[in-house]
Amino acid sequence: MNYVTKAGNLAKALENAKLKQRLELLRKLKKPGAFLELFAGKGFLSQIYADYASQLFLVDENMHYLQQAEKRVQGRVSYRLFCKNNLDFIREDLPSINDLCFVDFDAFGSPAKQIQSFFRTFVIKKPLLVAVTDGLGLRWGWVCTNYRSFENYSREYFVELPKQQVRRAVHVPRDFVKFFEDLLMMQIAKKYNYRLKKVNESVRRRGFPVYLGYMLEPRKETPVA
Ligand SMILES: C[S@@+](CC[C@H](N)C(=O)[O-])C[C@H]1O[C@@H](n2cnc3c(N)ncnc32)[C@H](O)[C@@H]1O
Repeated sequence: MNYVTKAGNLAKALENAKLKQRLELLRKLKKPGAFLELFAGKGFLSQIYADYASQLFLVDENMHYLQQAEKRVQGRVSYRLFCKNNLDFIREDLPSINDLCFVDFDAFGSPAKQIQSFFRTFVIKKPLLVAVTDGLGLRWGWVCTNYRSFENYSREYFVELPKQQVRRAVHVPRDFVKFFEDLLMMQIAKKYNYRLKKVNESVRRRGFPVYLGYMLEPRKETPVA
């Protein structure tokens, strides 16, 4: 039932903290709509979303995992499976999907690349709930071994890189991941002119994965004077 990550670590099927955070975020949903899970895995979240969605798009590069996810949602909701790298999905399939009300980035490590890529492709025309799991903090010791390594990881969270280079060593707190995710979502909202609301967060100490929820909406067009 549990997951084994690429680094060989054991990860629980569905953390209580994650379930609680996602259920709280789902309370913001006004009516059922299409949900996209870019890290669908074995479908532990999908089985919850099946009660809220009118349609599920499940993406995962592991076919065995997706088959398990399928069993969890079959007969309960309409669904489509995409067994491929999620960055390929975003490039090849997302452009033909234009109506979503919920997107989930439930990564083992950092989903920053996928978040950036998703928002470069998908244009929000109505409120979109965004659920994020970021486990990069678990690798705090590794990420922060030296400034170069930290700089490499932090790049993923910038939509545009600062022009001025920072050369000083910095003290990196263990909760840096939550800060990075909030920063990334703020940059995305600014760049694409969306209104951003932070809905919730579940952050534990010592770099545990952070679970974050946001709502993005298009800004109403300002009437021409
Ligand atoms: C934390 S698990 C997902 C758990 C799942 N949401 C659930 O509730 O059961 C992360 C998943 O992401 C998948 N994955 C990792 N990198 C990927 C990528 N680049 N493209 C597609 N799937 C990826 C892994 O195969 C794994 O199933």
